[in-house]
Amino acid sequence: MTHSTTDTTVQAGRDTLEAAGRLVDRWMADEVNWSSLPPQLAEAAQYGVLGGGKRLRPALVLSCCKAVGGCDEDALPAAAAIEFVHCFSLVHDDLPALDDDDLRRGRPTLHVHAGEPMAILAGDLMLAMAFGLLADAQCAADVRASLVGELAHGTSDMVAGQVYDTLGGLPDALNAIDQVRLVHRNKTGALIRAACRMGGRCGGADAASLDALTRYGEAMGLMFQIVDDMLDVTQPAEHVGKATGKDAASGKRTYPGVLGTSACHDEVNRLRDEAVAAVTALGPAASPLACLAELMAVRTR
Ligand code: IPE
Ligand code: IPE
Ligand code: MG
Ligand code: MG
Ligand code: MG
Repeated sequence: MTHSTTDTTVQAGRDTLEAAGRLVDRWMADEVNWSSLPPQLAEAAQYGVLGGGKRLRPALVLSCCKAVGGCDEDALPAAAAIEFVHCFSLVHDDLPALDDDDLRRGRPTLHVHAGEPMAILAGDLMLAMAFGLLADAQCAADVRASLVGELAHGTSDMVAGQVYDTLGGLPDALNAIDQVRLVHRNKTGALIRAACRMGGRCGGADAASLDALTRYGEAMGLMFQIVDDMLDVTQPAEHVGKATGKDAASGKRTYPGVLGTSACHDEVNRLRDEAVAAVTALGPAASPLACLAELMAVRTR
């Protein structure tokens, strides 16, 4: 069967993303205890967390929870927690010691806005707050413990991926494309996989459903970073809201760098199909997940 992405499917993906974004943005603004922080620290952390972004990871948490029969309320603290970790990773990724970027989500990066010391410290805070949100979540103790484990594991793998990406140390035995896959699975794939598993845990997924969501998340995670690498080559900074054209210049291992753009398109399509196939058995409740995969395969920002 040939693949036919319809405009309707992609639009449904967009609707899912926007609805999740609205919910989690409101939750993060209203339910997080910002007022106990020193004002300049609260301002910096809010700048890093509340200032836009696609909110893909929260959308995955909420949609995976609903795919296995849960509801948004069951998953909002976990959705917010993983977005806090993601935002922390972006703030530190942009620092002069790492990617040294000035633009993020269409605005100055946090270290440009608030200075480098505050950006480091606000990032540290976001990471701690993420786990605090899980600790305070109103759910069964075993679910809470599993959420903490999933997020901790995903975050450690993300940091390992950032080390591979920035400092090297990849196994010599791997060929070039397997090296890039290893970087991407860790630096980006791990949090996307964790988002899916956390959503499943919030919705009370059984072992088979959790396995399906994990396979979906792994395909989505790798696909997401391949597309990110392609956008770095093809899109202007004004469109994506962050610097582009930098990966090759800074000697990063990227998919287009190793495979060329045409093979990247094939790989994206293959991973999209893998993601969609993984959740088909979950039935109609998983259709928003399929639509998110279709959208993420064709996104331009
Ligand atoms: C950017 O992630 C960093 C990568 C992992 C490629 P997103 O593209 O999800 O960034 P926001 O949250 O929408 O800004
Ligand atoms: C960043 O990858 C992944 C993390 C932040 C963990 P990139 O460095 O490619 O992300 P962008 O392009 O700056 O968003
Ligand atoms: Mg980086
Ligand atoms: Mg970067
Ligand atoms: Mg990038």
